[in-house]
Amino acid sequence: MPSLRVLLPAEKIHARIAELAAQIDRDYPSGPVYLVGILKGACFFLSDLARAMNTPARLEFVGISSYGRGKTTSGEVRLTKDLDVSVEGQHVIMVEDIVDSGITLSYLIQIFQQRRPKSLRIATLLDKPDRRQRAVQVDYIGFQIPDEFVVGFGLDFAEDYRNLRDICILGD
Ligand code: IMP
Ligand code: MG
Repeated sequence: MPSLRVLLPAEKIHARIAELAAQIDRDYPSGPVYLVGILKGACFFLSDLARAMNTPARLEFVGISSYGRGKTTSGEVRLTKDLDVSVEGQHVIMVEDIVDSGITLSYLIQIFQQRRPKSLRIATLLDKPDRRQRAVQVDYIGFQIPDEFVVGFGLDFAEDYRNLRDICILGD
């Protein structure tokens, strides 16, 4: 059985999400903002963030495939589920679980810019800056973490561990 060591307990995650929500409220005083969650990892972050904000939010999701069952990216990203609506002329915040190599987000940013939103920002719960291969400007970051493979609070390993309340380092 692989080991699990708590890196970020649930209470700390919730407190930080409240701070990010307050920052978003200050940045978008009139709303509405489209929160676009990247399935599946961002599902809990997006739902907690949306409910912690006062700014009116609309929820959308996109699906991508890239990782397969391993711990490192295959480097190939594919959109498996697109938005249900047009976001032209709208404020959009893309909501991601973790930015690792930056390949996924740089691909999605390129696609989303073609949709001509009024503004496009990125929120991520976790950031692993040591592993970056593509530069991505991230506007809202929950926590910067060391180069460890983490699970919980939406993050998985081969689809397991997503519903852990804490974020944990997955050992061997
Ligand atoms: P990137 O394209 O390398 O930035 O990868 C981003 C995606 O890789 C995230 O949306 C996660 O699904 C996955 N990922 C990267 N690091 C981890 C990790 O430590 N645990 C779980 N998933 C991860
Ligand atoms: Mg993911």
